[in-house]
Amino acid sequence: MSLLEGEREAIIKHVDEILKNYRNDRENLIPILQEAQERLGYLPGLAMEMISKEINVPAVDVFSLATFYNQFRLNPPGKHQIKVCMGTACYMVGGQIALESFERRLNIKEGETTPDRNFSLERVACVGCCSIAPVVVVDEVIEGKVTPTRVDGLMLSLETEIAREQKEAEATEKRQEKGV
Ligand code: FES
Repeated sequence: MSLLEGEREAIIKHVDEILKNYRNDRENLIPILQEAQERLGYLPGLAMEMISKEINVPAVDVFSLATFYNQFRLNPPGKHQIKVCMGTACYMVGGQIALESFERRLNIKEGETTPDRNFSLERVACVGCCSIAPVVVVDEVIEGKVTPTRVDGLMLSLETEIAREQKEAEATEKRQEKGV
């Protein structure tokens, strides 16, 4: 995933600050990764490379550890976060179908983020609403009984919202250029 404008500088700044607070000891690898994720929202490759060099652990080991633990995310969170429940109740009545519908619609796999960073997609364990399975959580809003048609409807409304925000942002930019 390519970095956004200014993101590289932000990663370097934050990781430098974090590393100053820890001894260069491989025992500190997990707390360092946790803090990096807390500050950056995910673990970019650049951050893992910097950490690997500083504490003298091969980059491949840092990467393996980050992929091993569920708590770490290697892709940036999308502006809109879509979580598909894969608990037993949801799985039994179409959770996988809902997940695949989102994957097709977004052209990404679960665990990934769209290149424009508008959407991220992940599978989650039971969210406690089994009576309305299959369940999807979109930006903290719970959607129940989700079918592929409902996936299309949800995506349409999210895309419409993004398009409207982009239009507003462009209009604001134009006004600022004109000094209005
Ligand atoms: S299994 Fe999905 S809400 Fe419980």
